[in-house]
Amino acid sequence: MERPREPQGEAAPAFWVRDVPVHGRLILAPMAGFSDLPYRSLCHEHGSAMSYTEFVSAQAVVHGGNPRTWEMLAYAPHERPMVFQIFGHAVETLVEAAVRLEERGPSIIDINMGCSTRKVSGRGAGAGLLKDPAQIGRIFRALTRALSVPVTGKIRLGWDAQSLNYRDVVKAMVDNGAALVAVHGRTKAQGYSGRANWDAIAEIVEMAGVPVLGNGDVVQVADIHRMFAHTGCAGIMIGRGAIGHPWIFQYRDRHQVPFPEKAAFMRHHFRRMCQFYGERRAVILFRKHVARYLKGYTGIRDLFLQMVQVDSAHRFELLLRALEARLGASTALGDRAAPELTQAPSGL
Ligand SMILES: Cc1cc2nc3c(=O)[nH]c(=O)nc-3n(C[C@H](O)[C@H](O)[C@H](O)COP(=O)(O)O)c2cc1C
Repeated sequence: MERPREPQGEAAPAFWVRDVPVHGRLILAPMAGFSDLPYRSLCHEHGSAMSYTEFVSAQAVVHGGNPRTWEMLAYAPHERPMVFQIFGHAVETLVEAAVRLEERGPSIIDINMGCSTRKVSGRGAGAGLLKDPAQIGRIFRALTRALSVPVTGKIRLGWDAQSLNYRDVVKAMVDNGAALVAVHGRTKAQGYSGRANWDAIAEIVEMAGVPVLGNGDVVQVADIHRMFAHTGCAGIMIGRGAIGHPWIFQYRDRHQVPFPEKAAFMRHHFRRMCQFYGERRAVILFRKHVARYLKGYTGIRDLFLQMVQVDSAHRFELLLRALEARLGASTALGDRAAPELTQAPSGL
């Protein structure tokens, strides 16, 4: 199949992934359950410079996939560069899946080497691959030979603090044709605890010889500037800091977005979810987003609790109007004052 043309843009690209130009340095991180077509495409419109799907099982693709598989791989025409992220362990399965997926026109195929859940990493996929740099080398060698699009990978720093083997992993990748390395600066054992190690990301930038995306703990604009200064990375991937806050891609913090603008965006996002999933699923799936949009506001606990149980588009609209009336032009608290994803929303 002929490769789809990438948009060239008017300005010079910020960086290249082999022959794919990237026009911007901030990128929405792949996040299962969040970086679906509706939210990804909206983030793209707000400035996210590449679109990553959530991770998709190579084995599922090889076995023909199910409706959910193809839903995760759906993308909007303007979302380019479009990166399909897959996970697996066996070279043959990954190659077969990637070759099939190439037919669907992604700009890039990315290998997940960061997923820490036992179901994935315990079977040698996701972060489980970090234990075996030689296997990583074989995977990249086979993929770069089999595909015409660039192949990239997203890693953690190692399995645990005793096996920080990111130098070996990155070498195995780039020696075998990887065109970009995205690095979440934590080990598998850390999960999401502790702080991301940006020194290690800087080290990888020094040695990789291909663009590096730094990732981990960027939640406000000051963090963006600090990460660029600290690591020299080509771009920054933003995960949790972008949930309920696509304005981070415009270099704006949560407290800089007045509620009417946020409400208009929520309406838009919800509508796009209804179009993509149908109203019945959208109302359920949107609940987790709502909790994040409303993060950091005070005096709305009653409406918040109703909003996270919303069961129809009509009810959503009524509650959103009530929130607009209550909050007027107010803004959320500062980012650091707001709770993390894993905690119950407080102060609401
Ligand atoms: C809910 C959730 C789902 C995630 N799913 C994926 C995924 O599918 N693929 C992947 O490479 N990383 C995934 N990650 C990891 C993020 O891409 C990112 O590496 C991590 O959240 C650290 O960045 P942050 O501090 O900006 O959130 C996920 C993270 C979260 C919070």
